[in-house]
Order: sequence, then C-alpha cells, then structure tokens
Amino acid sequence: MYENHLNNIIEASKVIQSGGLVLFPTETVYGIGANALKDDAVEKIFEAKGRAQDNPLILHISDMDMLPMIAKNISELEYRLMDAFWPGPFTIILNKKPGIAKAATCGGDTVGVRMPNNKIAHDLIKCANVPIAAPSANISGRPSGTKLEDILEELRDKVNYIIDGGECDIGLESTVVRVTGDEVKILRPGKITKEDIQKIVDDVEVDKNVMGQLEEGERVLSPGMKYRHYAPNTKCTLVYSEDSDKIVKEILKIAKQYKKVLILTSDENADNYKEYECIKVGSNKNLPQISHNIFSILRKIDSYHVEKAIIEGVKPEGLGLAIMNRLIRACEHDYLQL
Ligand code: TXA
Ligand code: MG
Repeated sequence: MYENHLNNIIEASKVIQSGGLVLFPTETVYGIGANALKDDAVEKIFEAKGRAQDNPLILHISDMDMLPMIAKNISELEYRLMDAFWPGPFTIILNKKPGIAKAATCGGDTVGVRMPNNKIAHDLIKCANVPIAAPSANISGRPSGTKLEDILEELRDKVNYIIDGGECDIGLESTVVRVTGDEVKILRPGKITKEDIQKIVDDVEVDKNVMGQLEEGERVLSPGMKYRHYAPNTKCTLVYSEDSDKIVKEILKIAKQYKKVLILTSDENADNYKEYECIKVGSNKNLPQISHNIFSILRKIDSYHVEKAIIEGVKPEGLGLAIMNRLIRACEHDYLQL
C-alpha cells in the first residue's frame, strides 16, 4: 500500500512548500497541514476550519533536527519527555523561536510541537522539509476526522491536496502537556496517559479543565479548552458509574422520558437496551477500540434524528480519561456521575 502513496507525498509536499493546504493522516486523527513558516499559508487553515483566532496550532516535525527551527531554551526534562514519547501521540508546549508564522502561535510566546509516528505524516514533513502546522481535520466545533469518508464532504473544497491513509489508529488527538520547572501538566489527555508520564517524572498533574467546566472569564493554559467541541446538534447526556448495573438502570430511566432516543452502549451492555435504537462503541474492556471508533460514531448521531442521545461513560483513568474528556464536551457537560 505504501508505494502508492509515494507520489502523493511528493505532490503534497510541493503543495505545502508553495503555501497550500494538505489533508493528511496521522496516527491520532487527520490533520489540515500548512507550511508553519509561512504566515499566509497558516492563515488559510483558520479560514478553512472557521477556527477562533486565539487558538494556536500544533507544529509537526519529522526529526529532532527540525526542533531548533521552532523552539528554544528547552529543559532537560522536556528533552526526556520528547525522547520517551516521540515519535508518537504527544505534544509539548515549548518556548517559541522567531520565524514561525505568527498565526500558528496566535502571537503568543509558546509553540506546541509534536513528532507524529504515522509513516505518511512523517514522510510528508520530511519531504516538504519544513515544520507543518496542523490542527485536527474538522470544521471547528465538530468531532475530529479519523477517516476520510467522514470529513470529505465538509473539507474537500477547502484544501488543495488530500492523502488517504485509511482509518487513524488511535482515533483521539494527541496528549498535550506543558512543563513548569519539575512539574508536568496535562492540558489535553490522550493515548499517552498520566501513568505513562509518571514513569518519566513524579510530578504530573491533570489540568482541572480536563474534566471540569470553565468558569465565566477564566484564563486557560490551552485555548482549545474554551470552545464548544465535538458536540452533535442532538442533545446528548453522558452517564457513568463504577457499577455497570447503575449505568444501565439510569439510562433506561432517562430513555423512558423521550419518544425517540439513541443509546451509545458498550458491547457488554447492549442487550439491556434492546427496545431502543443503539450504536455499539466497542468493548468496555478494550478502551483502544472505543477511542478508535468514538469520533466517527459521534458524527453519526444526528443522522438518527432522535430527541436525545444517551452515552455510556467509561472509567476516567488511563486512556479512559481521554475518552471521557471528549465525551463530556460532546454532551456539553450534561454528565451524570452516579
Ligand atoms: O493529535 C493531534 O494533536 C492532532 C493531529 C493532527 O496532530 N492535532 C490537533 O490539533 O488536535 P488541534 O489544533 O485540533 O488541537 C491543538 C490543541 C488545542 O487545544 C490548542 O489550544 C492547543 O493544542 N495548543 C496548541 N498550541 C498551544 C500553545 N502554544 N499553548 C497552549 N495550547 C496550545
Ligand atoms: Mg481540534
């Protein structure tokens, strides 16, 4: 399969170099990429997505020798984290170097950097020979795109080149962290978990906004936390308890209140909801499977035309924290924890 992509990568890298936009796969989600050193190229990303002007982008590099082009004053701990988790689904906020497109950092002093481990993404960056600024591939507010068929309609006319890499393996965006002194703060949870990072450094904290709701006017470390995200037009409610029977009972109780509901259920609980329309998200013993599927499923909810979608939560630990972070936003914080 890869040989077929070689031509695409060469063509796509020319598009990047000449200031165009490329839709490309990574191991997390699809990205909309532009040359991170060109202001007008990066500005096109904001236009294409309808993205808020104060929400900075992640810069993607293929190799460590690209890092000095974009970041400076990197600490020993920051190097250790990059060494442990790159290439991979891990973004670190660093002090930025001059030369990066102003739009990419929204004029701030810091820059988010990630080295993806998807081969197409890696080769595209290497071939373009510049860092690529790339947000998730979706119109702002919508779930991120994890397979081309989900996003072609909304993005086809907004980019200059498309590389099809099949379904993204992980299905959720990268873990975003910021280091202050000896402390690592997780600003957005992902496949690289708190527990993974604790193997490198003792002091790891999860930002309170990962599961909580922002207060009016509150300052955030990562602007992406402020915005409505992932939510379908259908109103959704998230239900979680450590006791699976309690989840089922509560969901059946809510379901009775509506004429038409949709239930997003684990494979294990599906039999309890036989009289209702359901989508199985995967096994609750297999969180990577749920993370792989979830955005594509969230995108389908509106097509069921129901009054209410009720979603079973997962244990908010490890990869489950990343899944719950996205689901809470999809439900606009309508979350019942029993
Ligand atoms: O997996 C991923 O990270 C995907 C793929 C394409 O690599 N990209 C992605 O980008 O999810 P985006 O733009 O959808 O999300 C980037 C997040 C936003 O929440 C943004 O606010 C935060 O990272 N971010 C980026 N630069 C930042 C900075 N300098 N300081 C704080 N937060 C930053
Ligand atoms: Mg995004």
